[in-house]
Order: sequence, then structure tokens, then C-alpha cells
Amino acid sequence: MKTVKLSQSSDLMPTLGLGTWQAPPEVIEPAVYKALDLGYRHIDTAFNYNNEEAIGTAVKKWLKDGKGTREDLFITTKLPHIGNRASDVKKFLKLQLERLQLDYIDLYLIHVPFGFFYNTDTLTPLIKSDGEYDLDVETDHIAIWKVMEECQKDGLIRNLGLSNFNEQQIKKIIDAAIIRPQVLQVELHAYFQQVELRKFCTDHEIVVTAYAPLGSPGAKDHFVNKYNYSPDAFPDLLGHPKVKEISKNHNKTTAQVLLRFLIQENIVVIPKSTSEARIKENSEIYDFEISKEEINELRKLDKGENGRIFNFLFWKGVERHPEYPFKLC
Ligand SMILES: NC(=O)c1ccc[n+]([C@@H]2O[C@H](COP(=O)([O-])OP(=O)(O)OC[C@H]3O[C@@H](n4cnc5c(N)ncnc54)[C@H](OP(=O)(O)O)[C@@H]3O)[C@@H](O)[C@H]2O)c1
Repeated sequence: MKTVKLSQSSDLMPTLGLGTWQAPPEVIEPAVYKALDLGYRHIDTAFNYNNEEAIGTAVKKWLKDGKGTREDLFITTKLPHIGNRASDVKKFLKLQLERLQLDYIDLYLIHVPFGFFYNTDTLTPLIKSDGEYDLDVETDHIAIWKVMEECQKDGLIRNLGLSNFNEQQIKKIIDAAIIRPQVLQVELHAYFQQVELRKFCTDHEIVVTAYAPLGSPGAKDHFVNKYNYSPDAFPDLLGHPKVKEISKNHNKTTAQVLLRFLIQENIVVIPKSTSEARIKENSEIYDFEISKEEINELRKLDKGENGRIFNFLFWKGVERHPEYPFKLC
């Protein structure tokens, strides 16, 4: 498995990981075990995916079966929006470690820059009678980061990072941090290439991880059915004629071309699949190289901000949070 070295810990982060959003526990458990057997060493989950326990069980079984050691693995999880306050970081981290059945997490990300109040029994966000989320407008990134630094010192987290933060928000943390963010996980695919944010990250030795690297085809049904999004907001990246043409040149699938493109741009990818065939397909991206001309063609697919799928507006009222990170088109 190819890796990238994280600048402060010198830990090796595999450039391919298994995404697990929308994968229910009973499905993700065998999928993670299979992915590990197929050579994946990096798994991406989150409190909000409701599958940490099943992932922990798969990892534990794989280790117990003698197939590898804990040190071989790179497990990422994320502090949820409802835990986005200094007083809650340790509570959520402890719970997540228990669920994952791990002594430490390789990479802990603040999932989103905004925070919600929550029901302490169900650990779900509070929603007001008008359907709006109950925003905790006091979200203090520096205070949260300081507690995460303590947890790193205590050996509970090896690396700290951010997700869905904008450049200004990241800069503020860098300026106050003892341990700087090592990784930024953001939406990134051929339609939304995040060129400026990537340059900023390179300048600050932050590794960029692409979520939705295939354009998140599975998000379409989810957002259209659950949140009434227009289906037109989800163009078919896997079926794009240019991607198809390049895939034919290399005798590869369009998914493999989209992933390989990002890898060649020095981006870590975490495609989600629970199908054994597609988990395998998505890992076969290191045995070919996209030419410079083809890379340039793929770069031209970038729609900038218009290519964004994940704006989080499905959390009604979230754009009024002072730390809502995106400019709305
Ligand atoms: N930090 C964040 O806020 C955030 C947000 C979104 C996602 N993420 C992370 O990033 C991961 C990846 O993003 P994503 O799941 O949204 O999107 P994605 O990886 O771009 O796409 C996943 C979808 O594509 C399908 N798929 C996978 N491989 C395929 C292939 N080779 N050919 C055709 N279809 C394929 C999957 O279905 P099957 O399972 O049926 O194969 C699934 O529906 C997530 O799972 C999660 O871990 C993070």
C-alpha cells in the first residue's frame, strides 16, 4: 500500500482508504474485513455514520485472526457536530474508542466547523419546532483543538486534523496550535477540484484527503429522497464521456481513472464501497499512470464552487451558524 508521510508525527498514511458513510453495521463489518484482506490498511469512519462499533469488530477479528498488527492500520474517525465544544471532546473520543474497540485513533478530525446542541440521552442534534437545528453559536475551534492536543499527548490520538473547514478557519487553528493540523478532509473530485485550498494545504504541510472522490453517486438517492434535493444537483461523473475515453486508453474502469487522477495530484482517496468487487476494483489504481495530457483534460472538468455537492444545507438553518464554512452560490 502506498503511503504519504505526515509531517509532524512521521506516521505513514495510506493514500487509499475505505470510506464507510451510508454503510450500515451489518454490511460494513464483512466489507471492512474483506477490504483488509484485499490490502486496504486505512479505514475512514465517523461518529455520525453509526457504524464505528461494527468497524471495530471487523478490525478486532482481523487482528485476532493473525492477519496483521494494529500498527499496520490507519483508522480515522471524527468528532461529531454535536460534540463541537471543548467540554465534550473527551466524552465523545472515549465513546468512539470504546465503539471502535481501540486504544488509540490514528487520525481524529473535527468533522465540521459548526456545532449543534444535542439530546444527551440519544446523542442526536436538537431540532426546533420549525425544523431548524438548534445551533450552538459559541463553537470555539481553538478551545476544541487544545483539548484534542491534550488527547494526543495522552496517546489517545496519533494525528489531528480537520474536515470541511475553510482556509480562514484552518489558518486560525494553525496560528494557535502546538500540534498543527496534519490532514484536511474535504469534498474533492473531478467536478470540484479545490485548487486554491489544496495549494494552501501544500504550503502548510497538510495532507488533503478527498471525500466523495467518485462524485458520491450514493448521495443522490439519499439527498433526493430524504431532503428533497433536485436530482440535477448530482451529475454522473462515472459516466462522463472524457473519463470514459481515458478509461478505455488504459483498459481501466472510470472509477479507477477518477481515483488515479486524484492520487497523481497527491491527494489521498477514500472511496466508499460495500461490494467486494468494487472494493477490489477501487484498490487496483497503482498499476497504471494517466498521461500529462489526460491529467490536463481531467483538470478541465473542474466546475469550481458549482461542483460542490455537500453544502450541509440539509441541516436546516446551518448556514446561519457563525462558523458555517462555505460561500453559498
Ligand atoms: N468528512 C465529511 O464530511 C465526509 C462527507 C462525505 C463522505 N465522507 C467520507 O468519504 C467517503 C467517500 O465519500 P462518499 O461515500 O460520499 O462517495 P464516493 O466514495 O465518491 O462514492 C461512493 C458511492 O459510489 C459507489 N461506488 C464505489 N465504488 C464504485 C465503483 N468502482 N464503480 C461504481 N460505483 C462505485 C458506492 O456504492 P457501493 O457501496 O454499492 O459500491 C457508493 O454509492 C465516505 O464514505 C466517508 O467515509 C466524509
